Amino acid sequence: MSITEEKLNDNSKITANSKQLEILKKNFPNCFDKDGNFIAHKMEEIVTGNGLELSKESYSLNWLGKSYARLLANENPRTQLKEDKKHNQQEENKNSQNLLIKGDNLEVLKHLKNAYENQIKMIYIDPPYNTGGDGFVYNDDRKFGMEELSQLAGVSLEEAKKILEFTASNSNSHSAWLTFMYPRLYIARELLKEDGVIFISIDDNEASQLKLLCDEVFGEENFIAEFIWQKRSGANDSKNLVSSDHEYIISYSKRQDISLNGTEKTFANYKNPDDDPLGDWTSGDLTCNKTATERPNLYYPITDPETGITYECNKNRVWRTVKSKMEQLIKDKKIIFPKSGNGTPMYKRHKSEVQSLYQPMSSLLGSYLNANSTKELRTVLGEQIFSYPKSTKLLKTLIISASNQDDIILDFFAGSGTTAHAVMEQNKEDGGSRKYIIVQIDELTDKKSEAYNAGYKTIFDITKERITRASKKIKEEISKDVTKDRSDYDLGFKIFETTPLLENPLDKMDKFDDNTLKLFEPTILTEDDFNALLTTWKVHDGIKLTDELKEVTFKEYKAYYGDKKVYFVHNGFTTEDLKEFIKKLDDDKSFEPNKLIVFGYTFESKYQREISEALASYTNKKSIEIDMIVRY
Ligand SMILES: C[S@@+](CC[C@H](N)C(=O)[O-])C[C@H]1O[C@@H](n2cnc3c(N)ncnc32)[C@H](O)[C@@H]1O
Repeated sequence: MSITEEKLNDNSKITANSKQLEILKKNFPNCFDKDGNFIAHKMEEIVTGNGLELSKESYSLNWLGKSYARLLANENPRTQLKEDKKHNQQEENKNSQNLLIKGDNLEVLKHLKNAYENQIKMIYIDPPYNTGGDGFVYNDDRKFGMEELSQLAGVSLEEAKKILEFTASNSNSHSAWLTFMYPRLYIARELLKEDGVIFISIDDNEASQLKLLCDEVFGEENFIAEFIWQKRSGANDSKNLVSSDHEYIISYSKRQDISLNGTEKTFANYKNPDDDPLGDWTSGDLTCNKTATERPNLYYPITDPETGITYECNKNRVWRTVKSKMEQLIKDKKIIFPKSGNGTPMYKRHKSEVQSLYQPMSSLLGSYLNANSTKELRTVLGEQIFSYPKSTKLLKTLIISASNQDDIILDFFAGSGTTAHAVMEQNKEDGGSRKYIIVQIDELTDKKSEAYNAGYKTIFDITKERITRASKKIKEEISKDVTKDRSDYDLGFKIFETTPLLENPLDKMDKFDDNTLKLFEPTILTEDDFNALLTTWKVHDGIKLTDELKEVTFKEYKAYYGDKKVYFVHNGFTTEDLKEFIKKLDDDKSFEPNKLIVFGYTFESKYQREISEALASYTNKKSIEIDMIVRY
């Protein structure tokens, strides 16, 4: 039994490379000396001993703020997560596995990290393109001193000063955009499954920067493709008399051997009219686009062994293969000779020799005009209240190409919620049960906008309304289709949002000191505060947001249990409750915690000690080891 004390939001030991060093130290302890210095040549031995060469390439992407961006990626969340209980308890939402989360996506991604690491099969994002007119500015309320930042980010004082200037100046430079994107992509990669794929929409403004940034985050060898699609059919306001009518979607995976699904080949023209034991076949060209002068060894006559008829080779289109191989093919009955003696022999291609059953996906995705997507959204919402939504058809193409029917799909720049809508539509079409997680910041709508006048005070309100209406419409469509039983179809969604941290008494102290520690007055914390605490903790401890904690009551005391963790957050715990807790450990087969997490601010240290002593000295009947964590 061990007791650990932890402060969940403590960033005091986080630097631009603290987590990465931890991973290196854990996996390659021999690469560090007794003072913790890195021994580069030992790592070199590991790498080159494996047959790998050290790259001589010194090319890399650098920008002002890169170290700061790495620091941001490593920091722990500075918020809590709370649920919208009223919405989540509604009949259509209470068992839903879909999530709509309100908040800055960097905070949300950090919250999701432990519970959703390696869980997401497909991510699609459509971030601000930084066009100059799309309102992107770097926005960051972290307050660092120059020296502090220089130390944490590992940069000179001069660079720290420049970084602080640009983070405070609402910049929309390339550096600002890269600093915004880097930590989000870094954590997004951690959420992707080993065979997961990310798609990122972008246009010419940041396409080059984004490609290099993704090479840095995902690894150059994990690039899948740069897709393009047509967004309009020509504009009058073209620069240099070129109308830029397309956008890009770049895609990366975590591993080199990942392929997209492609489309299944139909093999409609493969038949077996002659009962060929090798199965269905189709006829294929036996010639190639070369002349007899170019390839004299492919220029020779061939004879049908059954009829004795000889077929001359075409001087301008010689056979595909050399004579010896052709003779073997004739013997193997792979050549179809014309019945009448007129015409050209053909190759008999069997279905079994086709290497892939899938048609590769083209990097030209086709036309998904913005005008049509705008109309599509207007049909759902009744008004024109969101500019440039993407098309659900485009999203469905990506969903089919990179997900299976029960995967989780994430979009952390949700906008009007097109991704969620497309996931529901695709499930309707192919009977899948894909789940979505979408994230949208509570960005205010312009007071003069149609959206504001229509009652949408934030973009989040638009996201929520769109998916609510889309799911209602799909439900109606399904109910009309008597051929399908979709009673299990998940058209609900749960809502969570980021919320400020509780004012912690400890934050005001330099050093943890049990004597001066003031407990929260029981009345200070509301039911909502405890709910937020439990939601934040469970997801931190790896429990999915859609998995509920169960209430368990001891004598009088209410605790919470899930995934072998038991949470004591309320005050009022007594020795009687402790006895009941131990009894439950012995008697209740479904109660098998291996971690007890208590809230240090409400839980008196007297009881913390009493529990730890009881757990240490007591061997429960199930012989389970319980670690105790006092969390602040
Ligand atoms: C280009 S739009 C996405 C449009 C979306 N694909 C659609 O079809 O409606 C980008 C969205 O990301 C949101 N956003 C920008 N910064 C964000 C952040 N830090 N966290 C969460 N959402 C953010 C914006 O409010 C905007 O709604």
